[in-house]
Amino acid sequence: MTRIFSGIKPTGHLTLGNYLGAVRRWAEVDQHRADALFCVVDLHALTVDHDPARVRRLSRQAATLLLASGLDPELCTVFVQSHVDEHTRLSYLLECVATDGEMRRMIQYKEKAARERARGGSVRLSLLTYPALMAADILAYGTDEVPVGDDQTQHVELTRDLAVRFNQRYGHTFVVPRATRPEVAARVMNLQEPLSKMGKSDDSGPGIVYLLDEPDTVRKKVARAVTDSGQDVAYDREKQPGIANLLEILASCTGGSPEALSGEYRSYGALKKDTAEAVVEVLRPVRERHQALCADPAPVDDVLRRGAERARELARPTVDAAYRAIGLLPAAG
Ligand code: TYM
Repeated sequence: MTRIFSGIKPTGHLTLGNYLGAVRRWAEVDQHRADALFCVVDLHALTVDHDPARVRRLSRQAATLLLASGLDPELCTVFVQSHVDEHTRLSYLLECVATDGEMRRMIQYKEKAARERARGGSVRLSLLTYPALMAADILAYGTDEVPVGDDQTQHVELTRDLAVRFNQRYGHTFVVPRATRPEVAARVMNLQEPLSKMGKSDDSGPGIVYLLDEPDTVRKKVARAVTDSGQDVAYDREKQPGIANLLEILASCTGGSPEALSGEYRSYGALKKDTAEAVVEVLRPVRERHQALCADPAPVDDVLRRGAERARELARPTVDAAYRAIGLLPAAG
């Protein structure tokens, strides 16, 4: 059976980008067609300046939102990365296979490091080595497919390179995974800055729709979305990035295609209105289920405990095999 693994980082509140680019597909498609694992990758949240209490809170919220989005623990495995030691055990080995040049070439590293430096802050070493941990997340489970948004494809490519290199040097140990992406909304853009990705750790609140935003907040944010100076509603990511973004969001929410939808609108106002309503309707059940799940944390804890147990069982043999293959002496006993 196909094995799927993907993760989400608790560095901020989950956004519409996370949902349309990744989480919704995990719930609607992936968990039904494969042996799928979905992980709140909390160790990755420590790679930038962080507040311990906030990371803890956001980790629980992310796990609850995954369940509220429709991940069903009877169908898939949901767990928290730091509950399964195999991730960090394997990450070190992959740091011994990767080069520093490879890590420095990662676009996300370059962008985030530049941002941290511009703020006068220092860059944590873990921000540079992050892709080795991400590769470990994936390779520990013999993953075939990694459903992600566009911004993660470079990291998955690196994961493939590391798997192939390890296998060639030390003998076949890892499945070589591949990234899968949604047909539309693989890169939802910030409503205020349609040339930048809608990212959960960004500061520009008005351009980001959060999964837990109230309907009226969603309506306001979409109504104020930056559009382009022209008048026509055309699907052109280069010339009309703001409109193209709205068309992609609408298409993703309603199941249409952005090109076809562009022909149905004569005004930006009408497009914004329909997009806002489509987003409100898509997010409504998620918000409602989230509220219900928050009433009692015990069942969520239980899902995470069982998820971590299963994840550990799955990962241990592969990580043990990697330790042997790379030349480490097995502990006696
Ligand atoms: P993260 O937490 O930034 O995002 C989680 C998922 O949401 C997708 N995504 C988007 N898709 C479309 N438009 C957007 N604006 C948008 N923003 C985010 C991301 O592509 C991702 O699929 N490094 C990863 C987490 C991770 C991981 C892994 C993923 C760690 N280990 C192993 C897969 C497999 C990250 O920071 O995702």
